[in-house]
This record gives sequence, structure tokens and C-alpha cells, in this order.
Amino acid sequence: MSTALPNLHFHDLGPPVEDFRAAVIEGLAVKPRRLSPKFFYDANGSALFDQITALPEYYPTRTEIALLRGHGRAIADWLGHDGLLIELGSGSETKIGVLLDALQPSAYMPVDISGHHLLESSRRIAARHPGLAVHAVCADYTRHFPVPEAVAKLGRAAFYPGSSIGNFEPDAARTLLGRVAAILGPGARMLIGVDLQKDVVRLAAAYNDVQGITARFNLNLLHRIRRELGAEVEIDAFRHHAAYDPALGRIEMHLIATRPTRIRLDGLDFRFEPGDGIHTENSYKYSVADFQALASDAGWDCTHVWQDDEALFSLHGLTVGPAR
Ligand code: AVJ
Repeated sequence: MSTALPNLHFHDLGPPVEDFRAAVIEGLAVKPRRLSPKFFYDANGSALFDQITALPEYYPTRTEIALLRGHGRAIADWLGHDGLLIELGSGSETKIGVLLDALQPSAYMPVDISGHHLLESSRRIAARHPGLAVHAVCADYTRHFPVPEAVAKLGRAAFYPGSSIGNFEPDAARTLLGRVAAILGPGARMLIGVDLQKDVVRLAAAYNDVQGITARFNLNLLHRIRRELGAEVEIDAFRHHAAYDPALGRIEMHLIATRPTRIRLDGLDFRFEPGDGIHTENSYKYSVADFQALASDAGWDCTHVWQDDEALFSLHGLTVGPAR
């Protein structure tokens, strides 16, 4: 793909729409019904997520940015200055901007499932940092992502912001962290953002904003199923639901039918009675100790934690332990 910037290279390994179709059919056929939150991020969903990050109720993004700004020097000194910086889920240009300014790596490799979003943000970053080689990789990082040949020999560090690790059940989170450790290699470092357990009211509010942006973000999944897969969906027959489950330590988001309805896809009929739902997201909240235990199990040494005064959000400095 032509990117018109000499320092920007775009590697398109984005999952085909047929993967989405297969996942929707599988997720609607089982009970309880479920869809992976990775499907939220089409161009529309990514734009809605950007709006979420600016909501007064949604504390994670601004807290993480403040941590990056406040501890930028210490974080950059710890993370190391040259080599390749890999970003998993290129969430926010503000966050990576702070890190790139402090770190000045020789190459930057954002990995994201949303091609449109990735290309737009990589273009702006490459234009702002003309001396930086940007290798954008559009891929589902929960599966496989290659490190492009041109930067494969550089020393590696990773940035995994936004508490996206919270989307995974603990077993899957361990597996993913272990795979990232293997890709980075022994001694390599990762800075990872992890949302913390806190007051239930505050947690619930962050996923039930008064402007209804999170509801639109959740319902956009149904728009996507209609638009991209040609399904028949009565979107107004569903409502957004988000609540904190203290026993499991996670926010759950669901789409709940408010009247009898059905989704028709490829000749299949998925019926919903009022109250029937689709589980669309988990967002696990950790204590510092619980996250460190999880990361240690996945082969990481947990050496640094930066958190805000209210203990809303944490940035962990992890080092890949010796090969096991
Ligand atoms: C991108 C997974 C960190 O769980 O807080 C925001 C996504 N969902 N509002 C989160 C999200 C609803 C977000 N993560």
C-alpha cells in the first residue's frame, strides 16, 4: 500500500471479513451468546472509542497519559533508548507521542486490528517524527504478528497501553503475555497499562456514561454485523448493558434484547426473547499484586509500578525472564 511518506511502511495482514462472519455465526449459535470485543474496532467503532477516552466518566485514558507525562523520564530510562518499540493495539496518539518524544527509538511498530485507524494514526506519527522508521502492522495480535524483516534485527521493547489486557480471561491473558515474551526475547522490557480495582460506583459509571457513547460503541457491533455481513438485525430491539461483577473482578458488557427479535445471517435464524443477550466484552480490573502474579506466571519479572495518587490505574515495567 502506498503511504506517501518515506518513513512509513504499512503491512496489511488484517483478518478477512470471513473470519468475522465465522466468529459471529459461532458466537450466536452457543449459549450464552458471545462476541469478542476485538470486533468493536471497525473505523466507526475506533472513532467511538476515541470519544470514550475523552468522557468525564472514563478515567483510564487520562490517568494513564498523566502517568506517562509525570514519569516520562524515569519510564524512558528504564525502557531503553534505541531499537524497536512495538505497540500492541495502537490506541492513542497522545500516549505513544509522549513515549516517542522521551525514548527516541530508531523504529516504531504499531500493531492493530483496525486498518483504517492504524493507517491514519501512523501517517500522523510518521509525519511528526521524520527520522523514525514506522512499520505499521495491521493484524490481530491475539493470533500472530510478524516483525517486518527491515526491523527484525533491532533490540525489542513493547508498549501495551490502555488496559487492553483486561479484555482477556486470566488464562488467555497469561497465554498472550507469554507469547509476547517469546517474541521479545529474554531480557526485553514491556511497559503495560493495567486498570485497577476500585469503587464499584466509579467503575460502573465509566461504562455507563450519561452521553451514551459507550452504548453506541457496544451497539455498533450490530451495525457492523448488518453492514459487513449483510445480516438482518433490528438494532433498536437491543440495549446496552454494563455492570461490574465483584466476584469475578470484571466489567461485563452485553447487548440485551428488549422485545422478541431475531438476527438472520446466511439463512440462519438466531432468536431472542426479551432479556436474552450477547456478551460482548469483559474488562478485568486487577490489584497490583494480582497482576504481578499473572505476569510472573507468564514468564515476566515485575520490577516497576507507576500509579496515580488515587490508585485508579497502573503502569507496570516488566522484563522477560530467562527462557523456560
Ligand atoms: C480498550 C479494553 C481497555 O475495557 O475499558 C471502553 C474498552 N469498552 N468502554 C476497556 C472499553 C467500553 C476498554 N479497553
